[in-house]
This record gives sequence, structure tokens and C-alpha cells, in this order.
Amino acid sequence: MAHQVRAVVARGKGAPVSLETIIVPDPGPGEALVKIQACGVCHTDLHYREGGINDDFPFLLGHEAAGVVESVGEGVTGVAPGDFVILNWRAVCGQCRACLRGRPWYCFSTHNAKQKMTLTDGTELSPALGIGAFAEKTLVAAGQCTKVDPAASAAAAGLLGCGVMAGLGAAINTGNVGRGDSVAVIGCGGVGAAAVVGSNLAGAAKIIAVDIDDAKLDTARKLGATHTVNSRNTDPVEAIRELTGGFGADVVVEAVGRPETYQQAFYARDLAGTVVLVGVPTPEMKLELPLLDVFGRGGSLKSSWYGDCLPSRDFPMLIDLYLQGRLDLDAFVTETIALDDVEKAFERMHGGDVLRSVVVL
Ligand SMILES: NC(=O)c1ccc[n+]([C@@H]2O[C@H](COP(=O)([O-])OP(=O)(O)OC[C@H]3O[C@@H](n4cnc5c(N)ncnc54)[C@H](O)[C@@H]3O)[C@@H](O)[C@H]2O)c1
Ligand SMILES: [Zn+2]
Ligand SMILES: [Zn+2]
Repeated sequence: MAHQVRAVVARGKGAPVSLETIIVPDPGPGEALVKIQACGVCHTDLHYREGGINDDFPFLLGHEAAGVVESVGEGVTGVAPGDFVILNWRAVCGQCRACLRGRPWYCFSTHNAKQKMTLTDGTELSPALGIGAFAEKTLVAAGQCTKVDPAASAAAAGLLGCGVMAGLGAAINTGNVGRGDSVAVIGCGGVGAAAVVGSNLAGAAKIIAVDIDDAKLDTARKLGATHTVNSRNTDPVEAIRELTGGFGADVVVEAVGRPETYQQAFYARDLAGTVVLVGVPTPEMKLELPLLDVFGRGGSLKSSWYGDCLPSRDFPMLIDLYLQGRLDLDAFVTETIALDDVEKAFERMHGGDVLRSVVVL
């Protein structure tokens, strides 16, 4: 039996999204049908709508979601109907060369549902990041469902499904921030603010938030930044060096995704320090650096895919910290909105006052 549900669809490049009826099939082998309770609006959804990811319109948007498993297909043992789950966009395969080497967070062959969701006229939809959760129900690979404590609020929990996990993980997993470290975070939207929180959680002694927007810097300070720098009027490299005894930070997280901010991160870290690129650049961007500086400054230059998270390891642990009051996920939920407010949320993204708008169903 297929399910008819309401969902947010992007039909063409740059066109406003529309609320449509879609057809969601019953789960086949290895799949799960999830009743969505909440889904955050991420910058990547807007990239999809603008045709910045690929041209596979129509897209079913939404990918930062939590909900309850309604039914599962043949052979599914990891989750069962009634489980409260966070959806992840990297269901690891267990068999690729990364998984076999014991590094599943790099999995090169992640799973999505095999069956297609469609419009009522049969047109196949492309779910954003293999999820598509601005919908009353969605179909995913069962491995995309990570069971967590149902005491958590769905709006807060869902955010771990993308941006907040990417930021927390950029600091904790990729940057390996430790007790006493100095950290700078360039770009303090949802992802960068989460990197601030992650650095705080990991015991960083100094956390320098950099943004061009004062409202974002205020929020970063509330979330644990010890210093803030508005790089619209202050040179962030000089400011970060000054704040770290003239040396630079041990770890600099770049959460914008632009060559100029990457270059700032590169020069704002201490010798042998670490740069973590979690911001996503666009195809035409190029980086030029003196190779001698790349060698001479030592350390490591890393990229962070999804915060190098392993959902099965990280989601339940972070939800436990949230429930203990040690990780303020609620602070990322700026507003809760209805399914037909996604287009308005895209407009609000350009203002400084929103970390996340979250659709609640
Ligand atoms: N690596 C991953 O797995 C992953 C996951 C989710 C999102 N992302 C990427 O992370 C980036 C940030 O996402 P977000 O949701 O936080 O976006 P956002 O729009 O909420 O935040 C971006 C922030 O950067 C600031 N900014 C812009 N230009 C700047 C500059 N020149 N210097 C300093 N700050 C500047 C903005 O004021 C804003 O606060 C995006 O590129 C997004 O695609 C990556
Ligand atoms: Zn794999
Ligand atoms: Zn996202």
C-alpha cells in the first residue's frame, strides 16, 4: 500500500518551493517508513532549490529530521515500528574499503532507499541528501534511522541529523579539540555555532568566534565563545593571533566555505596547528597559497564530511548529553514553523537572527 502525504517540493531552479501531495511506497527490503515529527531548514536545502547541487529536479527537500518509525521492510533488524529516530544521510555500508579498514565514518558507499517517492502523476522525486523530510512521511534505508532516547524534543534532536552534527563533529571528531586547546571558528551560523559548542564540550580553554554579523557573534558568546571578532571591521588573523599570545589557535574551524575565509583559517592557526574545513565551497572556487607556507607551517589541513560522525556512535551519546543538560540543542531552534513556511524560512536565512527554523509536524 502506498501512502499519500503532504510534502515540500522544489520543482525548478530558483523557483519557490510548493506544498504538494506525494506518493510514498511501503518499505521494501532494507527500508523504513518514518513519520516525520520535525525537520530543520538547512542552507543545503536552499542550495538544492537553487540548482547548486545538481539538476535532478523535482527535489523533495528537508534532511535534518527526527520522527517515529512507522513500518519496516523485509530483513530490517536495527529498528522497529515505534522507535524514535534521527535520520542520517550517511548510512554506512560496512563493506567498502573505508568500512573494512575500521573507518566507517568515511564510508564511500552509503545507503539510501531503493524505491522512489513520486508526485501523484508518477514523476520520480529526488530526496535531498537521500532523505526528503519536509513531508509527513518519508522512505529511507533502515540504516539511515538512528534510534535515540524518545525523551528528547524532536525539533532539537532532528538538528543532529545535519548542521549541528557537522559543527560539533568538525570540532570534536575532525579537529580533535582537547582540554586546554585554543580554537577559532570562522563563520558562526548553525554549523559554526555548533563548532563553538563542541569546542566548549571538549574542554577548549579559549574559543574565538569570528563572523561578519554581530547578532551571530552574540549568540556564539551565549553558546560558549570566550572572545568574538567581527571580521567586517577587524583583521581576523591578527585578532586571533593577538588573543593567543601572538601565535594563533591550535585548531581553526572554517564554517563558511570560501577561499578567503579558508586563507584566514590557514594563517590564524599556530605552527603545527589544525585547519578544519566544514563549510562547503562551490565548484568555481580556487585556493592559492604559497606551497612553502603549507610546508613551513606544518600541522594538518582537514575537511570534515558530516563532522566525521558515526551516527550509531554519536547521536545517542549527544542526545544523552542533551538530556543531562550538558548540550543545549534547544538553543539552535530559533523558531518552529509549519510545512508551508519553508519558503519564508529561506528568506529569513539571509538575516542575522536565525540559527535554525524547524518545521514541526
Ligand atoms: N561539511 C558538512 O558536512 C556540512 C554540513 C552542513 C552544512 N555545511 C556547510 O557549512 C556552511 C555553513 O552552514 P550554516 O548552515 O551554518 O550556514 P549559515 O548561513 O547559517 O551560516 C554562515 C555564517 O557565515 C557567516 N559569514 C559569511 N561570510 C563570512 C565571512 N566572509 N567571514 C566570516 N563569516 C562569514 C554568516 O554571517 C553566517 O553567520 C555552509 O557552507 C554549509 O553548506 C557543511
Ligand atoms: Zn562503507
Ligand atoms: Zn544540512
